[in-house]
Amino acid sequence: MLAKNRFTITGSGLVLAVLAIVGVGLWARRRHPHLPCPSSLSFLLENPFMNRVAGAQLLLDRAGVTPGMHVLDVGCGPGRVTLPAAQRVGSDGVVVALDIQPAMLRRVQEKVVAQKVNNVRLLQAGAGEGKTEVAAFDRAFLVTVLGEIPDKPAALREIYRALKPGGILSITEVFPDPDMMRPAVIRQLAQETEFSVAEQIGSFPAFTINLVKLAET
Ligand SMILES: C[S@@+](CC[C@H](N)C(=O)[O-])C[C@H]1O[C@@H](n2cnc3c(N)ncnc32)[C@H](O)[C@@H]1O
Repeated sequence: MLAKNRFTITGSGLVLAVLAIVGVGLWARRRHPHLPCPSSLSFLLENPFMNRVAGAQLLLDRAGVTPGMHVLDVGCGPGRVTLPAAQRVGSDGVVVALDIQPAMLRRVQEKVVAQKVNNVRLLQAGAGEGKTEVAAFDRAFLVTVLGEIPDKPAALREIYRALKPGGILSITEVFPDPDMMRPAVIRQLAQETEFSVAEQIGSFPAFTINLVKLAET
């Protein structure tokens, strides 16, 4: 009985979270069609629905993040993936959290201090501006970000350069993000850069496509 009630409450919470995401997302999109997701809407990212369908540990598993790796979190937002990634790569690894919005990076910094993490570096930049280190990363993430980036090919080219040979860019898209990209469009973008599509995991309401920078022959 107790278990059933718990399930009902969790289920209702999920439904409410989805409705909130749809409602606020669509409203925000209508008011600010071409702006990045503002930090005041971070609750749209950090909620039970997102944890269930695109939780940080799941995304780190899908990308194969292991201790000692160097990770680039592009469009890190409030650090939903950054902080768990930092814990997973450990003291021999590093996570660079890149975002165009200083307000998002301030949220990451607050978590870094609160969690006493010392392997996260913050980088304020637009994806595609070329501010990342070359051939420095084992893994890169674009989690519900690609649709917000105006020059997507430039962003993918920069991430390609930033990865080591054999490195993986893991792209995740989640319904009902108003900027959600379709898998076919991501595959097309990958083709236009030099990435190879390694795999697609999941479909609806969230999917991940892993792109690989093939090792030079
Ligand atoms: C929907 S949030 C996703 C945040 C995080 N990846 C997550 O899944 O929780 C999108 C983030 O991408 C950032 N962003 C949007 N356009 C960008 C760009 N051109 N360059 C870098 N970051 C960008 C926004 O500032 C925002 O923090």
